[in-house]
Amino acid sequence: MRGVGNYSTFFSKAPQIGPRYNATIEAMRVVIDPKRVPAAVLDFVVGHLKSSFPQFSWVGIYRLDGETLNLAAWKGPHATEHVAIPLGQGICGLAARTRETVVVPDVSKDPRYLACFPSTKSEIVVPIMADGTVFGEIDIDSDTPDAFSAHDRQFLEVVAEDLGRYLKVKG
Ligand code: SME
Repeated sequence: MRGVGNYSTFFSKAPQIGPRYNATIEAMRVVIDPKRVPAAVLDFVVGHLKSSFPQFSWVGIYRLDGETLNLAAWKGPHATEHVAIPLGQGICGLAARTRETVVVPDVSKDPRYLACFPSTKSEIVVPIMADGTVFGEIDIDSDTPDAFSAHDRQFLEVVAEDLGRYLKVKG
């Protein structure tokens, strides 16, 4: 046994997306453990995602507090000015409101996009949920156009589901 004592039952069976994706899920599941505090867990997850996938230029996790998404952890070359995003704004607000992953292959063509970094070309935002409640979201910016594949999306939705279970337990 490692990480969560009931490691095999706390999380869903990870789909076989690909070896690198599955290795990253395994590594993160050791750390996404209710015995650890959210600041440490979320910090590890953004760092591990950023270092495992070179096309992930900036990785953040926002937590939903009432009607506002607050930046809880991030890894990337620059800080963002968008540390508190109202639910009505941006791709981040849209994903939390609709409870659906939003992929933007070309941010310059999406009027809903809230600009953070001049180098960003594409973005994915994946809601973190458990039992229908939104706890936050994973937001990734890429300096590569159309950087996020269907496998990236599937993988990030597994990570978001793992984090949803964790944040539900942590309250
Ligand atoms: N681009 C986001 C804002 C957050 S930054 O990417 C870090 C949006 O449109 O909501």
